[in-house]
Amino acid sequence: MNPTLTTLMAHRSIRQFTDQPLTATEVDTLVTAAQHAPTSTFSQQYSIISVTDPAKLAVLSDVTGHHWLEQAGHYFIMVVDQYRNQQLVPATATTTANLHSLDKLLAGIFDATIATEAIVTAGESMGLGSTIMGSILNDAQRVIDLLDLPPLTFPLLGLAIGHPDEQPEQKPRLPQPLMHFTNGYQRLTADDPTLVAYDRLITDYYHARGSHQREETFTHHIISEMNRDPQNRATILTTLQHQGFLVD
Ligand SMILES: Cc1cc2nc3c(=O)[nH]c(=O)nc-3n(C[C@H](O)[C@H](O)[C@H](O)COP(=O)(O)O)c2cc1C
Repeated sequence: MNPTLTTLMAHRSIRQFTDQPLTATEVDTLVTAAQHAPTSTFSQQYSIISVTDPAKLAVLSDVTGHHWLEQAGHYFIMVVDQYRNQQLVPATATTTANLHSLDKLLAGIFDATIATEAIVTAGESMGLGSTIMGSILNDAQRVIDLLDLPPLTFPLLGLAIGHPDEQPEQKPRLPQPLMHFTNGYQRLTADDPTLVAYDRLITDYYHARGSHQREETFTHHIISEMNRDPQNRATILTTLQHQGFLVD
């Protein structure tokens, strides 16, 4: 073990924070750590917006349903950004059609996501805790309007970060034989004994944890995810197209 591995393997999402805000230096350090993450084709196709305005945080709290984000020490929105690179190309020069493609959308998603995890891990190495929020996509258009996002950008993830005021139990991950294969995919059946044992482990985890105890297995959790109402995410494709992605 080394300090990096210790940090990575101690991860848990934090949803309760002390009222201590992050300092400007801490925020700067986190953004600098994100900037040093790998970036597809060295195109740096993401931007980070720090949201500090309480009125804007209240809107994000409404969009995500996570009212506790207003108590976080800091809040970031991680934005897929091909707009900046489009601005670099002189109008008379080469076409920028490529920037509207699925390929470039994916590249922006890769960049923004990898940068997000860099902030999570950098924060944890500094004694901070965080939760990534895909739930800003409950109303991506509202977030776009809130932050005045230009074409060829998209708000991908929120990130609440701060000084932890809880120490939740770690959620046990899948046994490696179910997710790490050699030289080819290993198909799974629902009665696999390793999966059955993992379901039992997850049941024990939900029984033992300090808050939100419930009867749960991993299999049941995945089935409930299938049944989740997709209604509030139904407009994502339209919103992406409105932003100029995935259009000819
Ligand atoms: C892309 C992504 C989106 C997420 N969105 C949310 C979210 O909207 N709200 C939330 O409470 N947690 C969110 N999470 C956190 C996951 O629920 C959490 O990582 C998972 O339950 C495992 O728990 P752990 O991080 O404590 O190990 C998200 C995580 C990822 C990677």
